[in-house]
Amino acid sequence: MTTLSVDHVVRAFGGVRAVDDVSFQAGAGSIHAIIGPNGAGKTTLFNLISGVLPPTTGAVRLDEVSLHDKPSHQIAELGVIRTFQHPRVFTGWTVRDNVMLGAHLEVRTGFLSTILGVRRQRHLKALAEERADAALGEVGLGDAADLVAGHLTTGQERLMDMARALAARPRVLLLDEPAAGLTPMETRELAQRLKALKGPDRVIIVIEHDMSLVFDVADSVMVMNQGRLIASGSPAQVAQEAAVREAYLGSEMLEHAGD
Ligand SMILES: Nc1ncnc2c1ncn2[C@@H]1O[C@H](COP(=O)(O)OP(=O)(O)OP(=O)(O)O)[C@@H](O)[C@H]1O
Ligand SMILES: [Mg+2]
Repeated sequence: MTTLSVDHVVRAFGGVRAVDDVSFQAGAGSIHAIIGPNGAGKTTLFNLISGVLPPTTGAVRLDEVSLHDKPSHQIAELGVIRTFQHPRVFTGWTVRDNVMLGAHLEVRTGFLSTILGVRRQRHLKALAEERADAALGEVGLGDAADLVAGHLTTGQERLMDMARALAARPRVLLLDEPAAGLTPMETRELAQRLKALKGPDRVIIVIEHDMSLVFDVADSVMVMNQGRLIASGSPAQVAQEAAVREAYLGSEMLEHAGD
């Protein structure tokens, strides 16, 4: 079974430890949620796993393969794919073309295309289109494939970014606040879609502030505060922990806990 291991990972920015000695293992077949207040270090942790930033110290591994010493494109080739808290959208392109970026089958032009041959290029393009359309279907944007991406709502942009990630056929799927900007109905649909993405060969980790979504979809929850992992366990377990309640003091975020 595929397992992502994060081992004593630290990321310092000057004197601030944005991620401070975090260790966990996330296995395939489950949805693992990461929650925590703003600035807790959640996105930085994704940056460390996906190679956007190197850890200051510590190790990240996918099964036996170390990731922390590899550049982000190699990590992506190994199947570790993330979405962004602020998705990058090519607003003048169609939705399908945006998603095809994730398919890892870029159609090359110029010298290389002459070598590879036009037919092979066409074949790769068709394959990338096929994967993009399948991924758009998985997130419920099947009808939007031919729209110009600039016309999408914020919620749809986020779903498109998720489709881009799915088109890469991830073994590890890292979703950074997938429900941000979604309407309550879109969020409920997202919950069903996320559960459908679970698979025996796929690790899914979701950073999310929407607690109703977390408690609906997560098999396990990790709680970060000030760079540290302060609790982990089943949703009901972590909701009862004093340290978690303290980190969320005054917020409404745990109102769905244990429902
Ligand atoms: N590139 C950077 N340079 C300097 N400081 C950074 C950098 N990236 C993040 N930080 C700092 O690290 C801390 C954690 O930020 P991070 O974005 O990981 O938090 P988060 O848990 O994702 O918060 P949010 O819920 O608001 O998205 C913050 O204090 C932030 O200012
Ligand atoms: Mg963040």
